[in-house]
Amino acid sequence: MKYIIETYGCQMNVADSELVSSLLISAGHSPVTDIDDAQVIVFNTCSVRDHAEQRVLGRIANEKHRKTADPGIKIGVIGCMAQRMGKRLMEIESGIDFVVGVDQYQHLPSILADDEPCGADTLSMDKTQVYQGIMPHRQDAHCGFVTVMRGCDNFCSYCIVPYVRGRERSRPINDIYNEVKSASEAGLRDITLLGQNVNSYQYDGYHFPDLLRKLNDIESLWRLRFVTSHPKDLSDELISAMAECSKVCEHIHLPLQAGDDQVLKNMNRSYNVDHYLGLIDKLRTAIPNIAITTDLMVGFPGESEAQFENTLRVMESIRFDYAFCFKYSEREGTKAASYKDQVPEDERLRRLQAMIELQRQITFDKFQEQIGKTVEVYVEDFSRKSQDMVSGKTRDFKIAVLSGGSDKIGGLSLAKVVDATAGTLICD
Ligand code: SAH
Ligand code: SF4
Ligand code: F3S
Repeated sequence: MKYIIETYGCQMNVADSELVSSLLISAGHSPVTDIDDAQVIVFNTCSVRDHAEQRVLGRIANEKHRKTADPGIKIGVIGCMAQRMGKRLMEIESGIDFVVGVDQYQHLPSILADDEPCGADTLSMDKTQVYQGIMPHRQDAHCGFVTVMRGCDNFCSYCIVPYVRGRERSRPINDIYNEVKSASEAGLRDITLLGQNVNSYQYDGYHFPDLLRKLNDIESLWRLRFVTSHPKDLSDELISAMAECSKVCEHIHLPLQAGDDQVLKNMNRSYNVDHYLGLIDKLRTAIPNIAITTDLMVGFPGESEAQFENTLRVMESIRFDYAFCFKYSEREGTKAASYKDQVPEDERLRRLQAMIELQRQITFDKFQEQIGKTVEVYVEDFSRKSQDMVSGKTRDFKIAVLSGGSDKIGGLSLAKVVDATAGTLICD
């Protein structure tokens, strides 16, 4: 059958969609890029905020009319919403034919072949599942994700991820090595290692810094990145490995969430502002020019105006290169959902807008500071605006455009930054 997968949520889901694609292709199905051609429509979903869930339900409601014209069309839901809501989803939305949880994707081929009903075991969690031996069907020719660990044990009080993704487990180091080697030999020279807490990787006595050092030796690999790091696992050893490994890029995504000790404590984040500032100092000392990006949340239950402003002050002092800013969304079953002092929705929105505006200015200034510098760009494609320009990413994860044609695509170019917007470096 012809299938299409629509992916929502984080990079883990993007990587999982590539695994699912690989499983479906092995079973004789073929991917299509136009939904009009698809006989199977799979939604790989995210539960992290209510908005993410509502969007997918809206998409399914929009697509189910296709089944009137062709009753053979199947619609499936996989990913975190499938895990969280299970069969309840089929009651909420009549268009759904199958629901498969995050640890059971190996069942998908037989479900599509109608050999297997979509039963309880397609939703059960498997704390050992790492999809060993499945090579993902890659969507991109130049950059790739490689999942190194799955699950999360941190239970931040607002977060649904530990419930839908299960306990932390790491992949064998040799499997990861082989996957990164074969992907980079196939031309994907920029690899991002993935995990909800990527730096808590632990396998057979190997820790995350050991993994970086091992992968750094792969000759065909040019650039190595990783997301997402938790501040509690950012050891001195890891900072040294980042500084010493030439392929590890000068960028870290290190979610701060809030710049107030009491709020961090209520979030169960297990560090305070001073500790986080200490990490930033160490990173900037060991790796000059490192770009630091983060996740921030406003309107966590009980967050006062003064606590919110503490976060703004920390943002001003650190000056993140970029920050993903979120409005707290109550998630059923999490600890924070039972907290009484929820911040009113209009207040959450006001704080979010103020936070985004502050970060927009900082990001703009950070990009302006790049003018005059020479950057290394891994050119991935033509620029969207002009056929005489190409675009790619710098080592510190900024989008850059430069003059050139197809001969530059897939290679590294050194270019001088001559101008910048709040999201793109313009090079000569
Ligand atoms: N494991 C990563 C990312 C998890 S989800 C980490 O620890 O940082 C990505 C981001 O979504 C989080 O960093 C957090 O900022 C945000 N997020 C998680 N739960 C949320 C919720 N209930 N409401 C709003 N934002 C949330
Ligand atoms: Fe969620 Fe916290 Fe785990 Fe990140 S570390 S996935 S925010 S529980
Ligand atoms: Fe969303 Fe699941 Fe990722 S809840 S953020 S897709 S792990």
